[in-house]
Amino acid sequence: MTELVEKLYRTSDLTDGELKALIEADSEDVAELLRRRADEVRRLHYGKKVFLRGLIEVSSYCKNDCLYCGIRRSNRDADRYRLTREQIMLCAESGYELGFRTFVMQGGEDSFFTDDFMCGVIAELREKYPDCAITLSLGERSYDSYKRMKAAGADRYLLRHEAADGELYASLHPSEMSLAHRKQCLYDLRSLGYQVGAGFMVGAPRQTTDHLIADLRFLQELKPQMIGIGPFVPHHSTPFADEKGGTLALTLRLLGILRLMFPRVLLPATTALGTIAPNGRELGLQTGCNVVMPNLSPVDVRKKYELYDNKICTGEEAAECRTCLQRRIEAAGYEVAVERGDCIE
Ligand code: SAM
Ligand code: FES
Repeated sequence: MTELVEKLYRTSDLTDGELKALIEADSEDVAELLRRRADEVRRLHYGKKVFLRGLIEVSSYCKNDCLYCGIRRSNRDADRYRLTREQIMLCAESGYELGFRTFVMQGGEDSFFTDDFMCGVIAELREKYPDCAITLSLGERSYDSYKRMKAAGADRYLLRHEAADGELYASLHPSEMSLAHRKQCLYDLRSLGYQVGAGFMVGAPRQTTDHLIADLRFLQELKPQMIGIGPFVPHHSTPFADEKGGTLALTLRLLGILRLMFPRVLLPATTALGTIAPNGRELGLQTGCNVVMPNLSPVDVRKKYELYDNKICTGEEAAECRTCLQRRIEAAGYEVAVERGDCIE
């Protein structure tokens, strides 16, 4: 099976049959070689650099009802909040001082965050922090909305496609949501000039290897600058409360495969990966990841942005996470880069 890793390393592609074999190869030899080759490729393009993204979780209100998500509208137990413009600015200010040069405003699909509101926030950030990248992750919006926010100064947009297979997508989402619309949003964002991030959860209920191959093929077609994957982690107040979560081994295998398929992509070691294993993010970095997204949200709201159970870093101040992460990144053999961290095209 190790020859498949070598072929992927050489050619950045495999047949569906080969991908299937590699995704299912639960062996230490494969894991070790994937780690080595993925690390070699990331070092070739990005050296030891790890880019930090300051995550500002702007709202836990959401009109959607994704079956896996802790802030879905049907979860009556969720404690809701939304940040004011002033609070968002304070998060960015402390983030800038801590060396963050990308701010990610992420939240549920909250109608309070109108285009006018968002454009005001984006324009103020753009003016105060001209050397920073502004990333949005606010779900599905209209073409016009994406266009206005881009014109106001946004640079990047993260919108995981979640599942490229229509049947799997439908089993994870309510009937009013559609894969076709989600994909359309991604193509709209790309055509508007955003740097785009797509991605999916690993180990989502009913997900098979064939579904994962469909995800990889969709990513090859979209060619995003960023790919966000992390394990599915159950949330106790969702219909998927009793499902099994994604495993560390499979997530790492997919991260290694992604680095070899997309040598220059920005690949975060996600908080969910750090949630399922204490050294999950470090292992991610050693398997091709080159981004981490620590939390800049005010500590009093962090527990409320509860997408899944046992989320890490909900009690730490931004400065504590920054110090902790720097230590972890350096111990894993890498270094924090104080820069925007754009994708090398
Ligand atoms: N509303 C925006 C959107 O739809 O893109 C951004 C927020 S959404 C909560 C961010 C991501 O969290 C989703 O794309 C999903 O993949 C991930 N997520 C949600 N519930 C999760 C869970 N239980 N386990 C792991 N990841 C989860
Ligand atoms: Fe948040 Fe370690 S990264 S405490």
